[in-house]
Amino acid sequence: MQKILVVDDVEINRELLHNILKDDYIIEMAGDGEQAIQKLKENQGKIAAILLDLQMPKKDGFAVIADMKKNGWMPKLPVLVISGEYSVEVENQCFELGVSDFIHKPFESSIVKNRIRNTLELFAYKNQLEQKVEEQEEKLKRQHELIEKQAQKLRRTESFNRLMMEYRAAIREVETRLLVLNEEFSQEYNRNPFESIKSRLKTATSIYEKLERKGFPIAVESIRENLTDVAGVRVICSFPDDIYRLAGLFAKQDDIVLLREKDYIKHPKSNGYRSLHHILSVPIFLSKEKKYMNVEVQFRTIAMDFWASLEHKLKYKKNVDNTEEIVGQLKACADSIEALDYQMQEIRNKIDRSKRF
Ligand code: GTP
Ligand code: MG
Repeated sequence: MQKILVVDDVEINRELLHNILKDDYIIEMAGDGEQAIQKLKENQGKIAAILLDLQMPKKDGFAVIADMKKNGWMPKLPVLVISGEYSVEVENQCFELGVSDFIHKPFESSIVKNRIRNTLELFAYKNQLEQKVEEQEEKLKRQHELIEKQAQKLRRTESFNRLMMEYRAAIREVETRLLVLNEEFSQEYNRNPFESIKSRLKTATSIYEKLERKGFPIAVESIRENLTDVAGVRVICSFPDDIYRLAGLFAKQDDIVLLREKDYIKHPKSNGYRSLHHILSVPIFLSKEKKYMNVEVQFRTIAMDFWASLEHKLKYKKNVDNTEEIVGQLKACADSIEALDYQMQEIRNKIDRSKRF
């Protein structure tokens, strides 16, 4: 049987409630607020609900609630206020303080029982859910710590650091070649095919996490063999046709191999994501050898990039409300961005044509 604490300074009220509830619950009783707190301390974790009068000598009901909050008992332990004739203001004040329900006088046996049963069921469900969430969070934390530990191990390995140096070299190689193309373009056509380049080397943590997630061996050689996005370069262009022109020219360079193309511009993801992804094998020149490294190059317009960074934020942000609505709005934005990109391109074409005459 669950234990309930009845707190009221009027003995007859305590007795009445005791008689109503004694067959279903174990009843503890307190005659004022101080006794109530004492009982709660003695029975920590054992009391399932508290029925609390507000007007009492020594320590009133509000002071009991304040103490319960201070001790962190309130969210797990439902408080039902035994109410005489309190005003709407007082009742609302109680709800704002986190009181679960009211038990009105005169006590009607079935109503008292039903209110308590409902509150207890609701709290049991709530507490169960909260415990589940806590357990999940704890599990995630432990997983994260383990990944961090393994990543730390990788970072201390010489061959891992050597590999990262090679990926950095590959990023520089790609950046330089793209810059060369950009400069040539700006001389020939008086405009730049791309606005900016952003590069990133995948972190040890992220590398470890991906190897594990995909079931690949956790070893330095496995990184080279199985991951294609350790070196990442993002090229931000003004117009969609620049993307294809630039990506095409670059992939055609005679010592570069295009391993895989994912065209999310022609075939956008269902969320609206648009970009052209090239996985390329790029040579780097070291003191004793020439090596081919995998680099992931993402080409997108300024507007697509703006969209992708916002969408990325949403994906990794916890507790975002209205997610479904936001997903819908993002998809609509992505579609508007596509229309806008092509409109701007059309305007640029018109300007270019008019310049010739
Ligand atoms: P990852 O395991 O995330 O690398 O995905 P993947 O191997 O299936 O490759 P994909 O070409 O789909 O994605 C590669 C990268 O493109 C991702 O790591 C992101 O940087 C970017 N990307 C892909 N899809 C999305 C998306 O829906 N939104 C955003 N913001 N970025 C995306
Ligand atoms: Mg990736």
